[in-house]
Amino acid sequence: MKNLILFIPFLMMLSCKQKEQAASQLVEDPHSFSKPAIAVVEHLDLDIKVNFENQQISGKAVWKINNKAKSNEIIFDDGQLNISKITLGAEEKETTFTYGEEKEFLGRPLKVVITPETKLITIYYTTNAQASALQWLNPHQTAGKKRPYLFTQSESIAARSWIPCQDSPGIRFTYNATVSVPNDLLALMSAENPEVKNSKGIYHFKQIHPIPSYLLALAVGDIEFKAVDKRTGIYAEPSVLANAVYEFADMGKMVNAAEKLYGPYRWGRYDLLVLPPSFPFGGMENPNLTFITPTVIAGDRSLVSIISHELAHSWSGNLVTNATWNDFWLNEGFTNYFERRIDEAIFGKTEAQIQEEFAKKALEDAVKEMGDTSKDTYLKTDYTGRNPDEGTNDIAYEKGYFFLRTIEEAVGREKFDVFLRGYFDSHAFQSVSTEQFLLYLNENLIKGNSDLEKKIRINDWVYGPGIPSNIAYSKDLLSKGGKLWKIDGLVVSATKGLPFDTSMLKREIVTSNEKKFFITYLPKKLSVEQMKFLDEQFNFTGSNNTDIQLLWYTMAIGNHYTVADKRIEDYLIENGRMWHIIPLYKEMMKTPEGLKRAKEIYKKARPNYHPMTYMAIDKLLK
Ligand code: BES
Ligand code: ZN
Repeated sequence: MKNLILFIPFLMMLSCKQKEQAASQLVEDPHSFSKPAIAVVEHLDLDIKVNFENQQISGKAVWKINNKAKSNEIIFDDGQLNISKITLGAEEKETTFTYGEEKEFLGRPLKVVITPETKLITIYYTTNAQASALQWLNPHQTAGKKRPYLFTQSESIAARSWIPCQDSPGIRFTYNATVSVPNDLLALMSAENPEVKNSKGIYHFKQIHPIPSYLLALAVGDIEFKAVDKRTGIYAEPSVLANAVYEFADMGKMVNAAEKLYGPYRWGRYDLLVLPPSFPFGGMENPNLTFITPTVIAGDRSLVSIISHELAHSWSGNLVTNATWNDFWLNEGFTNYFERRIDEAIFGKTEAQIQEEFAKKALEDAVKEMGDTSKDTYLKTDYTGRNPDEGTNDIAYEKGYFFLRTIEEAVGREKFDVFLRGYFDSHAFQSVSTEQFLLYLNENLIKGNSDLEKKIRINDWVYGPGIPSNIAYSKDLLSKGGKLWKIDGLVVSATKGLPFDTSMLKREIVTSNEKKFFITYLPKKLSVEQMKFLDEQFNFTGSNNTDIQLLWYTMAIGNHYTVADKRIEDYLIENGRMWHIIPLYKEMMKTPEGLKRAKEIYKKARPNYHPMTYMAIDKLLK
């Protein structure tokens, strides 16, 4: 009788706490000390100087606040800033401040004494050498090798290390900034941006839409701009710019495709900034200016779906934002869904379906690793007391994706698209909790239809572990005669040692996604001869596609295919993208000789990595 399910109306399934959360606009955030229900920020005027000599940002953050409760205190998040003075009002009357207890990952609460009438607070500060959001690069770490570079990475909770702020994704504010930099460098932010350098090295920025703090971003370097079309363009170091412009030539088309799906792009311009290779992510959706790693420039435009992803965040994430990091799937699951819809519109159904196949494998692997009863596999997570960065896994990304995909399948794409469009429109520039989304879903799509409820099983997806059995995905490519079915057959032929027409390999496995699929489904254990044979067919070892490199080098390490050793070493030294290098270190660590080699390579690579990256690998290899 275990399977007898009572179909109680959805709202009854929400606990009191969840109902309360759904009802109130402000949701409690376990990763911020601020108390926005009492006093909350609304606008920032930032005035800072970037000093490369002592690697410090210093200046003032002027906050317009809403003292809702007429309180005598406002609380900010502080991540090791050196604060010299805080004043109140336009007249800048000095006030006092204290710090609360420091907590691991979170820094400490900065408690500022205000009056019930306070509307303006000015905080004078300097950043600390350990600021987790900042990477200061020496010239050698850039493409041009002549000038230094600085960039920020604020998501999830690092904004507090370079600006005193209420560092919660549930709190939004507009901002203006004045940034002073050495006069041969350009400064860019997540805002309206300059296109050329000026001789004074003073730049002004304006973000007219309210954003959460994790979308505050700054980059300073020897950077140039080239337009792609009227509203899109690319910033990069001069020696990288032409290749980047070629690689991302489709970015304008992507914005058009995205608008056709879910409504107007509301931010004005959409530009890319290609960073130096130590950038620890593939991409970061900073408003108006997506930050991306140069390592996705494969030369053949094969990794551009990362742009679809970061662009999609202009709706899912930046326009409608997860209220807390426990609702992270609302950012990344929605974005993965949107990303694949953009890719389908531009590159066709087959490519999108192959991506879905990888997504399913990634989700299965994640659930296997975390355990299929683990609460961390719920879509709604609880990272209280932990670093929310731990929650950046394929539960949020791919279980989130498949939840939406399953709803799409249940109601039909047309209806689902109308629903999503309505969701973005009605929550534009707001932060939303999982419970608020579910209320909206019930009111606007399920509408009490109990058949539909049974089909979708919201509760199992959101507050249950593992992968619900009603997961929807396309089976076309894997069914008899389909593209992936054919490749699957070739995996068997190519590894079983049976005679077969080897020219089939190159004929059937052409696109980089097809190659990725082929490698993914190879048996984990292959002989050196088998590896060599495949390499002769496809030259995987020499690939410039980092997705293929990651998969193939993992195989090479596991199978002691030493032909790839040099390439692996170069890859690890030249690529700082965390999620693309840590798996290789982990693979090497599985044997004593591998561990030794990992440490040797790491010694050379570490100076190139971002603090976030080397801190993770230090822990791994210690
Ligand atoms: N917003 C994320 C990056 C992120 C997540 C930074 C959590 C800090 C904490 C970004 O949109 C992302 O998902 N990047 C991926 C892109 C990939 C999924 C196409 C990456 O960097 O690999
Ligand atoms: Zn993302």
